[in-house]
Amino acid sequence: MISDKKVCIIGGGAVGSVLAYFLHRGGVTEIPVYYATRESISEVEKRGGIVVLDKRSGLEYVVPVIPRHYSQPSDECLFVLNAVKAPDVPLTLDLVSRIITENGVLLMLQNGFGSLELAEERFPEVKVACGVVYFAAERLSRARVVYHGGDSVVAGCRKKPCEELRSLVVVFKAGGLDFRVVDNIDHYRWLKLAVNAVINPLTAITRSKNSIVLEEEGVKLAELIIGEVCEAAKKHGYELDPARLLKHVLRIAEVSRDNYSSMVQDILAGRRTEIDYINGFIARELGDRGLVNYTLTKIVKLLEKTSKRSS
Ligand SMILES: NC(=O)c1ccc[n+]([C@@H]2O[C@H](COP(=O)([O-])OP(=O)(O)OC[C@H]3O[C@@H](n4cnc5c(N)ncnc54)[C@H](OP(=O)(O)O)[C@@H]3O)[C@@H](O)[C@H]2O)c1
Repeated sequence: MISDKKVCIIGGGAVGSVLAYFLHRGGVTEIPVYYATRESISEVEKRGGIVVLDKRSGLEYVVPVIPRHYSQPSDECLFVLNAVKAPDVPLTLDLVSRIITENGVLLMLQNGFGSLELAEERFPEVKVACGVVYFAAERLSRARVVYHGGDSVVAGCRKKPCEELRSLVVVFKAGGLDFRVVDNIDHYRWLKLAVNAVINPLTAITRSKNSIVLEEEGVKLAELIIGEVCEAAKKHGYELDPARLLKHVLRIAEVSRDNYSSMVQDILAGRRTEIDYINGFIARELGDRGLVNYTLTKIVKLLEKTSKRSS
């Protein structure tokens, strides 16, 4: 069993809060959560923790975390769960180096490609794992999060064996989260990349729910995007079947048809998106052969500029 204060979370937003919720339900009572801003810390203190609305039951839970500022590391953590957005990852790496214990495991939870690679490069001595998140959550305010459902995370290390992850399995399972350890995490990353590469930009550009992808034009664009994802995956030694992948992506769009993707939410709120880590990554991998993903990346970058001006 994981003893207290051994699991620390960096980033108390949508994903970090839901992970804290499952950890707490699994019996962990002291969970340090690191924030970028003092405002988030005082809001969490005011409410006595993070308020998580579990949409499955309709019930609200207060998760009594220990809020901390990223500039003041004060824990020794066997597990560091890094749940900030991809563009913020570089700013968290010093913090990681100061709180992780010698045999600790760093779990990177960002969508897209680049964050895991950055952490692996910066910490060659540390067990760096990746977690692919299959739940949906949304931050309503600094200390309030709605958990929409989906209850699994698939995790694994690429560079070193990290058996330690198995103790997270026990605690998360006790809390109701299906946390699984796999030895081919990259396979899951590519599948998730395909889903994000289709749903995120198409919903952001059209400012629509995920169901927009199911329109005739959406499906055609999905096919083109996925063709390039498969080509990029091939460069990395992964043979993906474009037809099966398209089916997979459309199924996800169907089951989440009423959701707004994180990218459309970011655009509407005037925030920076993770496009550089999703379609931008595919475009960079393929150069001239990645024009569809290149174009989508540039359109979303323009949208970021216009939405920032108007917000
Ligand atoms: N939301 C989902 O349903 C979902 C699902 C799957 C995957 N993901 C992925 O999970 C990642 C996190 O997304 P999210 O939606 O949870 O983000 P989010 O709600 O925007 O939360 C980000 C959190 O990171 C904190 N933060 C930023 N910079 C920091 C720093 N330097 N040190 C410490 N904390 C810092 C922020 O602190 P402040 O509160 O102080 O600003 C905030 O609490 C993304 O890569 C996303 O693609 C999300």
